Amino acid sequence: MLTVKDFPKMKADGKIITSLTAYDYSSAQLTELAGVDFILVGDSLGMVVLGYESTIQVTMEDMLHHIKAVKRGTKDTFIVADMPYKSFHISTERTKENAFRLIIEGGANAVKLEGGTSSRLDAIRAIVDCEIPVVAHLGLTPQSVNKFGGYKVQGKAELEYQKLIQQSKDVEEAGAFMLVLEGIPEQLGKEISETLTIPTIGIGAGRYTDGQILVYHDLLGLTALEPKFLKKYTMLNDEIVKAVAQYVSEVREKKFPQEKHVYFPIK
Ligand code: KIV
Repeated sequence: MLTVKDFPKMKADGKIITSLTAYDYSSAQLTELAGVDFILVGDSLGMVVLGYESTIQVTMEDMLHHIKAVKRGTKDTFIVADMPYKSFHISTERTKENAFRLIIEGGANAVKLEGGTSSRLDAIRAIVDCEIPVVAHLGLTPQSVNKFGGYKVQGKAELEYQKLIQQSKDVEEAGAFMLVLEGIPEQLGKEISETLTIPTIGIGAGRYTDGQILVYHDLLGLTALEPKFLKKYTMLNDEIVKAVAQYVSEVREKKFPQEKHVYFPIK
């Protein structure tokens, strides 16, 4: 299994880091089989698995339920667990307690948290101080959807661009060992990746980050969304609807089950 020490080394060696989200036993098994470098149990599970409106509604209990399933589905893949909204905002004690739970109860190897303001830096420092590796997350951080007024690309204006460069340096300085960059211009993704020692993992951050991540359901064509950054590698939605519809019509037409599907058929 890769460890927290391997990801910065991969960057130093010029090896691209691959990652995908997974949320349950079977998606974790398949993702591991396909050979990703690490799995993120993202709070995107709120939208793609639980049908919430946004990631804001995701709770610690939701996260733990899914992290445990992912853990059971993997043998030797590094697992990063998202810290859900409000789990690192209230106090340092609660932040540490929640990070501990994701590691101890969930079985994750690291936690990820969104943001780069001074209170987020305190949270990173506090968690790192508990011997828990932290992945930072900057740019279009979905938990800030209400503040941003929608899912809008961040860092386009000069001030915002410079602020994100500064925050990326700050999260590295605070002790994060990896940084997810989401929904930012390619030039900014490149500049941050060249500036930092820790690896950057991009989603909608262009071609020059040190690795890439996608949401499992998006990559497989299980979601309707079509953001510009996304490549759907297959369209499982269509395949699933086709297969289920065929099953429904075969049952109705008494074409399924056939004799070969029956235990001890009546002769
Ligand atoms: O929750 C998630 O899936 C994420 C990725 C999009 C990086 O944070």
